[in-house]
This record gives sequence, C-alpha cells and structure tokens, in this order.
Amino acid sequence: MYRYLSFAVLAVVAGQLSAAPVGDVYPFFPVTGSGDWGVPVSKAKELIKELSVDEKVAIVTGIGWANGPCVGNIQSVPKIQFPGLCLQDGPAGIRFADNVTVFGASINVAATFDKDLMEQHGQLLGKEFRQKGVNIALAPAMNLARTPEGGRNWEGQGADPYLAAISASLQIKGIQSQGVIATAKHFIGNEQEHAREKSSSDIDDRTLHEIYLPPFEASIKAGVGAIMCAYNLVNGTYACENPHLLQTVLRGELDFNGFVMTDWWAGMSGRETALGGSDMMMAGETMWGAKESYWGPNLVRMVNDGSVPMARLDDMVTRILAAWLKMGQDKDFPPTNFNSFDTSKGSHVDVRGDHAEHVRKVGAASTVLLKNQGVLPLNKVKTVAVLGSDARTPEDPNKFADRGGVDGTVALGWGSGTANFTYLVGPYDGILAQATPQGINVTHSFDDWDVSKAAETAKQADVAIVCVAADSGEGFITVEGNAGDRNNLTLWNNGDALVQAVADANPNTIVVIHSPGAITMPWIQHPNIKAVLMALMPGQESGNSLADVLFGKTNPSGRLPFTINTTPEEYGAHVQYHTNVPVDTRNRCIPETCPHIAYSEGLLVDYRYNEAKNIEPLFGFGHGLSYTSFQYSGLAISTSGSTARVSVTVTNTGAVPGHEVVQLYLRSPPVAQKSFKELKGFSRVFLEAGQSTTVDFDLSERDCSFWNDGWKVAQGTFEVLMGASSRDMRVNGTFVI
Ligand SMILES: *[C@@H]1O[C@H](CO)[C@@H](O)[C@H](O)[C@H]1NC(C)=O
Ligand SMILES: *[C@@H]1O[C@H](CO)[C@@H](O)[C@H](O)[C@H]1NC(C)=O
Ligand SMILES: *[C@@H]1O[C@H](CO)[C@@H](O)[C@H](O)[C@H]1NC(C)=O
Ligand SMILES: *[C@@H]1O[C@H](CO)[C@@H](O)[C@H](O)[C@H]1NC(C)=O
Ligand SMILES: *[C@@H]1O[C@H](CO)[C@@H](O)[C@H](O)[C@H]1NC(C)=O
Ligand SMILES: *[C@@H]1O[C@H](CO)[C@@H](O)[C@H](O)[C@H]1NC(C)=O
Repeated sequence: MYRYLSFAVLAVVAGQLSAAPVGDVYPFFPVTGSGDWGVPVSKAKELIKELSVDEKVAIVTGIGWANGPCVGNIQSVPKIQFPGLCLQDGPAGIRFADNVTVFGASINVAATFDKDLMEQHGQLLGKEFRQKGVNIALAPAMNLARTPEGGRNWEGQGADPYLAAISASLQIKGIQSQGVIATAKHFIGNEQEHAREKSSSDIDDRTLHEIYLPPFEASIKAGVGAIMCAYNLVNGTYACENPHLLQTVLRGELDFNGFVMTDWWAGMSGRETALGGSDMMMAGETMWGAKESYWGPNLVRMVNDGSVPMARLDDMVTRILAAWLKMGQDKDFPPTNFNSFDTSKGSHVDVRGDHAEHVRKVGAASTVLLKNQGVLPLNKVKTVAVLGSDARTPEDPNKFADRGGVDGTVALGWGSGTANFTYLVGPYDGILAQATPQGINVTHSFDDWDVSKAAETAKQADVAIVCVAADSGEGFITVEGNAGDRNNLTLWNNGDALVQAVADANPNTIVVIHSPGAITMPWIQHPNIKAVLMALMPGQESGNSLADVLFGKTNPSGRLPFTINTTPEEYGAHVQYHTNVPVDTRNRCIPETCPHIAYSEGLLVDYRYNEAKNIEPLFGFGHGLSYTSFQYSGLAISTSGSTARVSVTVTNTGAVPGHEVVQLYLRSPPVAQKSFKELKGFSRVFLEAGQSTTVDFDLSERDCSFWNDGWKVAQGTFEVLMGASSRDMRVNGTFVI
C-alpha cells in the first residue's frame, strides 16, 4: 500500500473555491494485476505511456447526459485505437432501446435458488448488451432488501448476503462470458430511495463485512470489471469519495483490479472523488443539467498542479483499459447501434433471439407457492374466473416512462433498471392460452373497485383466481405518492377488499401477488383462500409463467428470498422517509442536518431478526411449496481443518416430478455471538417421483468464520440444519472445529 500526502492548495472545483484539507492522508492501492488481470493490466500500462494528461482525463470523464447514444459515454482515443465506451442500464433489460427482451427482475432470479438459471440469465442479458454495442452493462444490483419497503428491492437479490453473493456473482460470470463488462452496484449502503443522495448509511465494521460486503466480494472473485459507488454517504462520507471503502476495503482488502464508476452525478467533488478512489465520473457533469464537470478540464488542472497525483490518474486509466482489454473488447466489439435519446438514430437491431423461453422458465421457477390446500395444480375444473386489474395485459405496457405507473399487470418495478416491452403477457391472457385448449371456460372482471361484480363473476366459477399487486421503484419517479420506496406494505388498488370479496364468493379462491417484496395479507386465514402464489416481478412472459404453474406444467419450486411477516411492526428495519433535506450549493447534504440512517439492527437483517427476536413469520425466508413432497435422510458431516463437507439424501416421495431447493443453515458456536442460524448452502435438484439423490455441500473456512477486525474461525461446535426453508428444518447434525 502506498500513501501520499496531499498538498496544501486552493483548488478551483467546478468554478468554486474550496480549500483542500492540509496534510490529509489518502490511502492508495494501485492495481495489482493479480490472477487473470495480469496480462490486461500490463497491456493497459503499456498503452497509457502514449497518452497525454488530456487523453487520460478523457478516458475517466463521461461526456455528459444525453450527449451520446448511451446513458453513459466515454469518448474515443484514436491514438491507442480505443473506440470509447458505451454504458447502459440496467438489470431487467437494455433501457431506452427497442427490440430487446424484458427479463424478470433480479428478485425473481434470486427466488429460483437455481445456480444454472442465475448464470444463464447473465449470459442472455450479456448477449443482448453486446449485440446492441454496449461495453458496460449497469447490472447487477446487489444492495440487500434490508427493509421491506425499499424501492429498488426488486432490482436486487433479496435479503440474505449468501444468496445475494451467489446470485449476483453468477449473473456477472454470465454477462462477462459475452465480453461485456458487468457492474456490481451500488457500493454501498444504498438500501432506500428517500434522501439517497443526502443521507448517511451508518454501518458498523462487522455488519459491513458479514452482511453488505459479501455480494461485492463475490463479484470481485468472479472477476467483475466495474463497481458503481452509491449516491449516499457512508458514516458521514459520500460513498464515491470514501477512501476507506473504495481504497482500503475494495482494493486493500479485496484486491479489486477493475474500476469504480460513480453512480450518475454521485461524484460530488473533484479532488476528493479522485483521491477517495473513484476511477470514472458519470455521467460526467457535476449534476443533471449542469454544463461543467468536477473532472474533465478541472482534473487536468489538478493533475498539472499536483493536487491529484499523476499516479492516481494513471491508476484510474489503467483499471478502465484493463477491464476493456480483459473482456476482449479491443477486438470485434460491435459499435453501438441504438440511441437512448433519439430512436430515429438507431438501427433497431433485434437482439431478442429465443430469450423469451428463458424468461418464461425463470418466471415459473421463481413463482413461490406460499400456500396450497389441494386446489393446485388446476385439475378437472370447467370454469375459472380471473379477477383484478393485475390480471389484465396493458394496452400499452410502455405507457409510463421507465414503467413509472400502474395500468394493468405489474411485471416490473419502475426506474432506470427497466426496459421497453416489445410485448407483455398478463395473467388473464396466459391463463386463457392454456385453459382454452382444455375446454375450460375463463371469465373475468378487471375492475378492482367494483368488488360486487368481481364477487358475482367469482361465484359462477369453479375456481376464482384473484390477481393483486404492489409496486415500487427508483426515487426519481413518484407513483401514487410513493417516491420510490413503498409508503406501506398493503396491496395497491383496493387489493385487500377485492381479495376479501372474491374469497367470500368462491370456496376455491387462489390469490396471485405481483410485488417487489413482502406485503401484509389480512385475509390469509380466510377459509376459502385455498392457494396463494407470490410471483414477484416476472417480466414480459408473466402470464405464461403463471399459467405454467397453475396448470402444473411447471411444478413450483420458487423460494422466498426475503421474509414475510404478519404485521409491518415485525420487521427489523424500515425506510426512513426523509424529505426536503437541506443541501449546499453543490447539492451536498450539510453535515449538521444530514440525516443518518443507523443500521442499528446490525447483523439482524430479515430472518436473522426473526430468529433473534423469536418472531414467527407468516412465511419465512426460503419458504416455497411444491406439488410433490420430499424426504430428507442420511445427513453426513466430515471435517478437515476449518472446513466441513455435508451431504444429505433427498427423495421425492410424492406422485409427480419436481425440483427441491435443499437449504443448509449453519448455527455458529457462542464465540461468534450470533443468536441466529445463517444460510450457507443451497442446491436446486430435480427428482422424478420416487427418485433419490445425494446433495453435497462444502463449508469453507470463511463459512465457519466471523468478523472481528479480521476473519476469525469460530472455534467450537457448529450446528448444521437442513431442510426446505429457514422454518422447515428436516435433519440436523453437528461438527466441531
Ligand atoms: C463506521 O463507523 C463505525 C463507528 O465509528 C466504525 O466502527 C465502522 O468501521 C465504520 N464503518 C465504515 C464502513 O467505515
Ligand atoms: C424493431 O423496432 C422498430 C422500431 O421500434 C420496429 O419498427 C420494428 O418492427 C422492430 N423490429 C422487430 C423485429 O420487432
Ligand atoms: C420506450 O418507451 C417510451 C414510452 O414509455 C417511449 O417514449 C420511447 O420512445 C421508447 N423507446 C424506444 C427505444 O422505443
Ligand atoms: C362461460 O361462462 C359464462 C358465465 O357462466 C357463460 O355466460 C358462457 O356462455 C360460458 N362460455 C362458454 C364457451 O361455455
Ligand atoms: C398503501 O399504498 C398504496 C399505493 O399508494 C395505496 O393504494 C394504499 O391505499 C395504501 N394503503 C394504506 C393502508 O394507506
Ligand atoms: C434435530 O433433529 C432431532 C431429531 O429429528 C430433533 O429432535 C431436533 O429437534 C432437531 N433440532 C433442531 C434444532 O432442529
């Protein structure tokens, strides 16, 4: 590690005088070129020898919003045959482009608990980005569902660090297999939308390492090219100028060889952002609509006057070029062929291929069967009534920009992480398509407010399927008073009253929920509600995926990637709804009034909180039913040093084939001071009726460690608990380290 003392200078930062701190010390960890970064890093180091300061600065500074075809653009440097870079949103598909696939939300990908589907999702997404000529996909997101209301929870991988680490890193592996740079975002502590640019997420060191860091750490191990620093402050320092996080943790501890880009306009200063560890300023200008940049000419000047060392600039450029070279983008990478801001300029390349099949498969595999009292799969029914506006395919699924509004079924949240649908199949159409060939009569009523009509329609059918929803998204759009984060956990559009009325009218009521996360279910004990499905946000094939599960074409195996409690009071943390936070002329929150979001629940996120506080959830983390049944037996554990190998036999004891998601939870010995068990392994296995298989899990030294100013093996007796959900343990055993 190198440290440099900065100089006492007065720096003109974007036209403003700001006194640089005197004698401050910034940690500096230059790129190491470790592992398979060796070759691209040395090549990049050769290339930068040819560059002037202006050219180097051009590679690290975006050209500004709507100045190029993509949401972020880096200009070309012909001298080194560098064609520039196109950066584009977002996890669910290519934003601002036509003829693209709208995939399911990441929360659905996580809910499959299927490693192959996670990686395949990344591959297909990466393929589309490549074919549109996008160098850097701004995906995946891996902030945790710390609160049930968090607006962007659907863009992330759920509430558990282990699941999120695997889901995110496999998506990265898939995206980068196509030669597209993936972006691990948002680093770190961006778990809510309210005041996200002007509040500090205060996270203690242990919680950082055990809960919020693992997905980023796994992303780095998977070779991720880029990490996006977050809008918020962490412990009082903006994330994009936080040397502790960006230098000491990311590079010093985790040996990150790629580059850190700022979230759009999250670089809040010139010199501090550069020395703090950001390597690329996006979108480039100081704030949306501004004409100048904290970097660009200001960075040239700061490098020339020594207030930002040349070594730091060289490191930024090396990292960016190394990621570009590592993906092989210096050869045969398609030029960008769409324009985000002027569709007439694009060549409308159709990149969808057969990806719809995968979307449908993930949609069905992520549909969580919460409850089923013999009504599903649908069998021998003659008439089905489909109720609720959420069942309806919207006339124009792109009616609202960035999906910021609800009209018909909710298939995605809103914000930058969305894409334009080329089509959307709603539940009614999906059900109709499979019911009609079977001679099943499907009736409907889509009006959420005319509950008597819904009840009347339901009454005349054998089965009533009532589709209800909640929605959330990114804070720059407010929908029905929800500024990104949800204001409450109840259903939207009169959903609870609709469910109640339908259930009162039909003894075989099935509730289908589209939602970014947990909702309250005041009707859950209604004796006529025979089944409940949580379909989350499945993307363009929504209705077909749902029908596959309802009619038994797919045996459900989706698992909740978060906990559903009975009441809102039972969650360990909630969004803090700060509004109108005062800011200074640079849009920075003012230290005296800057809200602090204390992550005071510490490690007790989601099911860890339920366990520690002894709160019985309505549906626990990892829960999800099947149309068959599975039996667990023969748990075997062996240890070697500080690692363990666990195996278990699982048998399909029911009448139909299906997937079981085998889950391994570990309870650490007292020295680790954890009053909860933790997910440390999962495997989705397919079994024919009557078939058995053995599932193996390896517990690494890290799995058996806790953070106390460094990773320490928790010596003592570990308890292994295995089963079908965090609340359904079937076999257990112990081992000693
Ligand atoms: C935040 O501050 C706390 C208390 O000073 C400290 O323990 C912790 O390491 C800091 N966390 C980060 C991420 O810097
Ligand atoms: C591609 O997009 C353009 C413009 O939206 C549209 O006219 C064209 O039909 C699309 N092509 C396909 C194959 O969908
Ligand atoms: C995407 O949909 C919006 C409407 O929500 C529309 O204004 C925009 O032109 C569409 N973009 C493309 C590339 O088709
Ligand atoms: C379907 O059911 C409705 C309501 O009972 C009835 O009016 C209609 O005739 C039925 N359609 C068919 C094709 O059976
Ligand atoms: C919760 O928010 C939704 C969406 O804004 C709204 O429709 C619903 O009425 C709210 N519920 C309560 C209890 O206020
Ligand atoms: C472990 O398994 C035994 C035998 O089935 C059971 O009695 C016990 O309750 C289980 N312990 C836990 C913590 O699940």
